[in-house]
Amino acid sequence: MAELKNILSENKDGILYLTINQESKLNALKISTLEDIKNIFNEVNDNKSIHAVILTGAGEKAFVAGADIDEIAELNELNARKFSEIGQETFDLIETCHKPVIAVVNGYALGGGCELAMACHLRVASSNAMFGQPEVNLGLIPGYGGTQRLTLLIGKTKALELLMTGDMIGAEEAKDLGLINHVLPTKEAAIAKAEEIIHKIRSKAPLAIGMIVDCVNSVHADEENGYQIEANSFARCVKSEDYLEGTAAFREKRQPNFKGE
Ligand code: COA
Repeated sequence: MAELKNILSENKDGILYLTINQESKLNALKISTLEDIKNIFNEVNDNKSIHAVILTGAGEKAFVAGADIDEIAELNELNARKFSEIGQETFDLIETCHKPVIAVVNGYALGGGCELAMACHLRVASSNAMFGQPEVNLGLIPGYGGTQRLTLLIGKTKALELLMTGDMIGAEEAKDLGLINHVLPTKEAAIAKAEEIIHKIRSKAPLAIGMIVDCVNSVHADEENGYQIEANSFARCVKSEDYLEGTAAFREKRQPNFKGE
């Protein structure tokens, strides 16, 4: 893996634990952190030693409190567009990853932090998590896909309210709105819950998991027909060894042993 500047990375039993590590600034995202994320996710799909990713923030107070405002404050029109596009491309790599990516949200997930969590497939939060898109307070709007993903996840009515007011919401409300999957009392419990989900997903057919990601993402890809992608993926499944294994195991009343082939 390429050398990382702002992220701690550790592979334990096939789970890649990534920790955004800039605690003194509440793990604010620098451009160089986006480069780290890009380097990591360019490798995850093809790296056979990685089965899943858990992404969290260092410490107890913040997941990520937004893009680094010291960098944002220096933008002009030309590099602002680039800034937004780099963030969008980086987060797309997470969203389209064929292995499960879970955000463990351990505190503030604001601005780019909320956008980062929303790009992950699933979100498990500790009870002190706070979510919001406060860019309007800076005379800005979200630039890393937040206007799109928030609307998809919680619907236009509530998305417009959060985006226009810049209000923060707590973990329970985020769960009620469908923004996150689970709330646990502590960061440790949230990590344990994420691991439990990953272990369950790991017992399923890996090729099918990747295809589910593609099909679900195609819901909001204008240039693609999601039903067609689903039918094509379904047809590709039956060419896999895992399809033969899964159906045989059911008939033989035993657990399947999937190989991702
Ligand atoms: N970029 C750069 N620095 C940030 C930051 C960000 N997004 N978020 C927090 N920090 C820094 C603070 O400037 C402060 O640095 P200092 O100790 O050198 O003064 C440090 O992190 C701790 O933050 P602080 O504001 O003192 O903590 P708090 O508990 O009083 O408030 C927040 C926490 C999250 C409510 C507050 O930090 C905040 O509003 N941050 C900005 C959130 C935001 O607008 N994000 C979207 C950016 S587009």
